[in-house]
Amino acid sequence: MSPYAHIIGWGMAVPEQVLTNDDLAKRMETSDEWIQSRTGIRERRIAESDQTTASLAYGAACEALEMARLKPTELDLIIVSTSSPEFIFPATACLVQDRLGARKAGAFDLLAACTGFIFALNMGTQAIRSGSIKNALIIGAETLSRLVDWSDRSTSILFGDGAGAFVLQASEERGGVISSVMRSDGSGGDLLCLPGGGSHAPASLETVAAGKHYIQMNGREVFRFATRVMTQATQEAIGAADLKMDDIQLVIPHQANLRIIEAALRGLSIPMDRCMVNIDRYGNTSTASIPIATYEAVKQGRLKAGDKVVFVGFGAGLTWGAAVAIWSGLEPGARKPLPVGLRFYARLRSFIRRIMRRIDALIWGRHNPYT
Ligand code: COA
Repeated sequence: MSPYAHIIGWGMAVPEQVLTNDDLAKRMETSDEWIQSRTGIRERRIAESDQTTASLAYGAACEALEMARLKPTELDLIIVSTSSPEFIFPATACLVQDRLGARKAGAFDLLAACTGFIFALNMGTQAIRSGSIKNALIIGAETLSRLVDWSDRSTSILFGDGAGAFVLQASEERGGVISSVMRSDGSGGDLLCLPGGGSHAPASLETVAAGKHYIQMNGREVFRFATRVMTQATQEAIGAADLKMDDIQLVIPHQANLRIIEAALRGLSIPMDRCMVNIDRYGNTSTASIPIATYEAVKQGRLKAGDKVVFVGFGAGLTWGAAVAIWSGLEPGARKPLPVGLRFYARLRSFIRRIMRRIDALIWGRHNPYT
């Protein structure tokens, strides 16, 4: 029988710097009243200059591993879902892998915008269910504040920075992620995009002058698409898990807009008290929003062992998806901080590997392996 992928650890990391709607109203023509009534957002977190997608991802990962009482060296796979990676390559996941000292883990980035965490969760689950790996770390991390045009009031009010992570572990016991739905429609790619800096429009003075390195969005169209697919994906994932809507204790939707969430829940005939919402404090953290909302739901006692939960999201691509999980909860026993020695070991290991590579290059540098 295929093993199940249980969620045995979860963590989050957000910058301390808070940007309120009133702060935005000082910079552009908008108001707290407009933003709250159209989106439900009150404030968002913005990364400090020394914080990046990888550093937030690392923070969330450490907490998730501590909760799971798992050493980074026990990880087989690390997936970082992000639309604001440190670089186009190397993958942000590899930077996190190196910083954790997760020497056995394969690491890669996944780009499915705000739906990315659902896709990554499914990929990690399938790797475990196939029997090829035992432990996976799934991270959603963003610093979208670096990709936003701060003079564009239709996009800059929406996004915030942050990261969330799950640790998945194989178990013979039924539970964990029991169904997933992943969907895409590239014909709507232009509705939400970042057109510059890729192979289509490589970075140049012209692309920068034209603002092509900022997020561009058709808000109304995205809104319409989102309300439709959130309902549809939730129904499909619940059906695939052989469950009914009444079996679900909590819905954890992507936190893009409170009105979208309310419309989706109305379509599902699920009351809002069975839905986790924290968009008021973080804005839209894209792929990080579902794990951050999950973390807070557990902390508030809204998600307990044995509960059935639906994660549902949508985003650029266009992409959308949902997953149903039986919440595993924590094994009895205290959370175990990652030993300081392990963190030191990871840095030392990284340093030694860089030195070894240099020595290697010195020894072999004079020989051309292709001649
Ligand atoms: N403050 C004040 N007024 C604003 C504003 C702001 N921040 N942003 C836009 N406006 C104005 C517009 O200029 C427009 O004025 P006009 O009627 O004089 O032309 C008016 O408000 C209505 O604009 P519109 O774009 O139709 O507003 P909306 O009700 O559609 O709300 C969004 C805009 C962006 C909040 C909404 O479309 C939305 O949330 N869409 C989904 C976006 C999303 O979730 N993206 C992420 C996907 S993962």
